[in-house]
Amino acid sequence: MTERDGRPQQSERLLRTVALTKSFGGIRAIDRLDLGVARGELRCLIGPNGAGKSTLFSLIAGIHRADAGRIFFKGEDITRLPPFRRVLRGICLKFQTTRVYRDLSISQNLLVALALRGPERRDGDTAGRLAWALATFGLDRDGDRPARELPHSHQQWLEICLALATDPDLLLLDEPTAGMTPDETALTADFVRRLNGQGTTILVVEHDMTFVRQIARAVTVLHYGRVIAEGPLAAIEANKDVRRIYLGEQ
Ligand SMILES: Nc1ncnc2c1ncn2[C@@H]1O[C@H](COP(=O)(O)OP(=O)(O)OP(=O)(O)O)[C@@H](O)[C@H]1O
Ligand SMILES: [Mg+2]
Repeated sequence: MTERDGRPQQSERLLRTVALTKSFGGIRAIDRLDLGVARGELRCLIGPNGAGKSTLFSLIAGIHRADAGRIFFKGEDITRLPPFRRVLRGICLKFQTTRVYRDLSISQNLLVALALRGPERRDGDTAGRLAWALATFGLDRDGDRPARELPHSHQQWLEICLALATDPDLLLLDEPTAGMTPDETALTADFVRRLNGQGTTILVVEHDMTFVRQIARAVTVLHYGRVIAEGPLAAIEANKDVRRIYLGEQ
């Protein structure tokens, strides 16, 4: 099924979820969620612990199967596609907990990621973008170093590079700056902005509001698996419900 079937097509939408629902036992982690992301956006997703942010990413990437609802990517229904098929179509997820291959070297990690990229995604300037990313994060110097020896921040960066190796059109970053120093966070923010400037659509989950302020133009707020607010950062920060629920005001 495509978006054309049964509902008006919104071709500018790169990603769209319709009434997406996922429960774990009695907990409804994602609750009839409607979300639209336009091509070229850099969107931040915020919300309290347990709001469903990582679950939403897992549903979009195909790690979890939706109980109900649909996910459209580039106008095609991808709700039932396995994760690797979504990677081939241009969706890549950087997990909340880093999942680099700890016993492999930086170069070997990259080879694994490059092998995941489908032939149809090999016409862009992936090599150039990857080289730029590795140099930005200082990962270009010791390719033979096992990933487990890297500091946590560098493992986070390596995982971003592994995602980039698949040449994604939509990059999902789940808490990319967790555990980073302010300088490392600022470097990551600058990188994310530049990557978006080159055309990659990016959805970022992050609790660090300093980072969110450094990158976000638009913000979506999740609470109990539903969108409770969406809009420009300034409007979100002024929103009374968001301030109460998320920013901790009475
Ligand atoms: N694999 C799972 N099995 C059971 N429950 C789960 C599982 N994954 C998530 N949940 C539950 O679903 C809800 C949403 O969790 P999720 O991890 O998506 O939240 P989150 O917004 O990413 O939170 P955080 O900011 O702490 O990372 C929570 O109540 C969580 O306990
Ligand atoms: Mg999470």
